[in-house]
Amino acid sequence: MKKRLFVFSLAVTSILTASAQCVMNLQTKKIGSAVSPTMYGLFFEDINFAADGGLYAEMVKNRSFEFPNAFTGWDVSGKVTLKEDGPFERNPHYVRLAPSGHRDKHTMIENHGFFGMGVKSGEEYRFSIWARVPEGGTAKLWIDLVDNATMRDDQKLGNASVEVSGKEWKKYTTIIKPNRTFAKAHLRVWGDGKVTTDVEHVSLFPVNTYKGRENGLRQDLAKALEDIHPGVFRFPGGCIVEGTDLPTRYQWKNTTGPVENRPLNENRWHYTFTNRYFPDYFQSYGLGFFEFFQLCEDIKAEPLPVLSVGLACQFQNSDEHAHAAMNELQPYIDDCLDLIEFANGPATSKWGKVRADMGHPEPFNMKYLAIGNEQWDTPYFTRLKPFVEAVRARYPEIMIVGTSGPDSEGKMFEKGWEAMRELKADLVDEHFYRNESFFLGTAEGKQRYGNCGALRYDSYNRKGSKVFAGEYACHGAGKKWNHYETSLYEAAFMTGIERNADVVKMATYAPLFAHVEGWQWRPDLIWFDNLRMFNSVSYYVQQMFAMNKGTNVLKLTTGEKQVPVAGQENMNGLFASSVFDSTTNEIIIKVVNTSETLQGITINLLGMNGERVAETLTLHHTGSMDDENTLEQPTKIQPVSSSLKCVTEGRKQETVLKDQLPPKSFRLYKVKK
Ligand code: AHR
Repeated sequence: MKKRLFVFSLAVTSILTASAQCVMNLQTKKIGSAVSPTMYGLFFEDINFAADGGLYAEMVKNRSFEFPNAFTGWDVSGKVTLKEDGPFERNPHYVRLAPSGHRDKHTMIENHGFFGMGVKSGEEYRFSIWARVPEGGTAKLWIDLVDNATMRDDQKLGNASVEVSGKEWKKYTTIIKPNRTFAKAHLRVWGDGKVTTDVEHVSLFPVNTYKGRENGLRQDLAKALEDIHPGVFRFPGGCIVEGTDLPTRYQWKNTTGPVENRPLNENRWHYTFTNRYFPDYFQSYGLGFFEFFQLCEDIKAEPLPVLSVGLACQFQNSDEHAHAAMNELQPYIDDCLDLIEFANGPATSKWGKVRADMGHPEPFNMKYLAIGNEQWDTPYFTRLKPFVEAVRARYPEIMIVGTSGPDSEGKMFEKGWEAMRELKADLVDEHFYRNESFFLGTAEGKQRYGNCGALRYDSYNRKGSKVFAGEYACHGAGKKWNHYETSLYEAAFMTGIERNADVVKMATYAPLFAHVEGWQWRPDLIWFDNLRMFNSVSYYVQQMFAMNKGTNVLKLTTGEKQVPVAGQENMNGLFASSVFDSTTNEIIIKVVNTSETLQGITINLLGMNGERVAETLTLHHTGSMDDENTLEQPTKIQPVSSSLKCVTEGRKQETVLKDQLPPKSFRLYKVKK
């Protein structure tokens, strides 16, 4: 009996809750602030093997033998010696393969790739190598793609050979077609045992890269970026910009010109977290600034480069001497000015010519430049000043992005904003890796973080510098990463970004990529292994916003006081925002139900009459809130499209959108105006 009563009372509760209505009014005729075309973009950093071993399609690790341990990533056998007077000034090392003296003793080198090499049956892979025969004459090099992990009868997945001739260094290429798909292949190079051969810059790329470029990007990963339709693309970081110390900061000039001569740089993520140690993680700079600008052009995102302000990572360097002194800043300032010339200068200018020689005579038309990553306090403010002056003097059209430091609140954050306003930075880069309470703006969140949740930007000063939410993600308490629930709360928060388009001009989720075997930081937007990838639920949230950002904000409120729907106590966990898209003449409404109950919503489309059909796109998951997409189930959770008939009400037949929003869901409505 007791049991029955319990069941009955549960049923009554859910009916009551289901019929609870939130009535919203949408001013469809009052077109509000413009949404910046740069909204909802990408933040790229070579963390989690995002570049080498990830987006950059090179499959050979330590291809130039320049790692501090020259044979990292290689197995060598026979007479292999390291030499250092090679043809590439900034990568002088190469390897000499000498005959062993016995027909059956082979001199071989074998590369492990990045957690192996992912090769697909029947696809073409372009092998290239720089080589010479130091004594003159000719020599044969055999190249095998091998599976030496599964102990099949024949280790060879595919092979090819090149004929090396003469004492001069030359580049040799050949194509290998594997006979089966394998994620952990190795690349073996060996001589015919008769003649000594020198080899350098050993490389293997899929022929099928994004846009078919030889020094290209992984097709599936680059396509995933394109599919987001990002407004802006921030590059190359992150802490990587600053370096653990100044010599290891990211130096864009080293990333230009032929890849063979781009010097190696340390990657701080190989040691930053001692519990996630990757001693073979370096930056080849194969994916450098040219490739970055080219990708931005391909995916139609505004490039946003970030350069060093002369401060090494402040977290890691409290000693003032670790940083460039005020009178040592000129080379750093020149880096900024030269980058603008590299991107925008005529092909006749010094750096414009470097760009043109790399294959892009037309300017890239870069508009933004960020100076400094997560920098704070006087050391930053004083250094930034001469950069701003120099850039403004030569390139007044460039928009400068400063930073408010690593925190999203607190004294240093406030001080940062004040200083950026004084320096008249066009945008201020804010970072917030915070838990659910921040993203939902709960009482706990407010107590802990102050101004948070979807109402955060409602109170921002509208004058002067604007906001760039440059790194953010919901890091769920209790170690949640790309789980459904945290992604949903990101959507809730983003309705606040959307509503405040007059002050928030850019927002980029972070970080972007992670190799499942090589991550240092999570959550991340896109995960991959050597053959596969999947989009996290956060990816779909970003995509839903980016592809439906509209051109202008519309006022969407509830109640007599016309308050925004932003999850406040009386909103029952509902968040909503709306935009108009003047290019498609559509009204777009986004509603997030973060509560555990079905919620009825009524949206009066004020100023519109007659029956209409709303196209809908819904992100909803009925399983555990801790579920996530995985390599095995890449599309377990993704948005589903449908449609809904809007009704009419009243004498004027006003259009009204009525819906029942499932618990823990995000739904987007599009109605033609
Ligand atoms: O996104 C990972 C790191 O988080 C970035 O490198 C840094 O800017 C922030 O602290």
